[in-house]
Amino acid sequence: MKIGIASDHAGFEMRLYLISYLKKEGYNVVDYGPSVLKKVDYPDYGAKVAFDLSTNKIDRAILICGTGIGMSIVANRFPRVRAALCYNPFLAEIARIHNDANALVLGGRIIANELACEIVRIFLETKFGGGRHLRRIKKIEKINPEKLKND
Ligand code: RB5
Repeated sequence: MKIGIASDHAGFEMRLYLISYLKKEGYNVVDYGPSVLKKVDYPDYGAKVAFDLSTNKIDRAILICGTGIGMSIVANRFPRVRAALCYNPFLAEIARIHNDANALVLGGRIIANELACEIVRIFLETKFGGGRHLRRIKKIEKINPEKLKND
């Protein structure tokens, strides 16, 4: 499984921590940066990873900013990206089983690195539930705001 990971400055330290955990676990990690700790804009980094997830160049994404909110907003603009902001392992589990989330978003200023690691582990190890959840995801994919405007 190929995992893309990016952060802004507020998620920088957590990103490095998670990369070392993921590599130790044997995952194929693609680091999208930033490479040095300086103030950057989260859309610049989140969009690169979300684009590659959207176009199947990577299998999963992990995005980290201060709260996780900005990265979530960015990632969910991309087709086929289902980004879930998770601040505990239960949310990560449900995001996989119910939502088939393919991008995990974390708040570097909200949770500790150790908890982030556990959330990542659950997110990567939990399988999608399918069935009624698949039906609902297909409905999300069919939503066309332009069409709804004219209905
Ligand atoms: C950066 O200060 C902060 O706004 C960003 O990391 C994130 O929390 C945005 O949602």
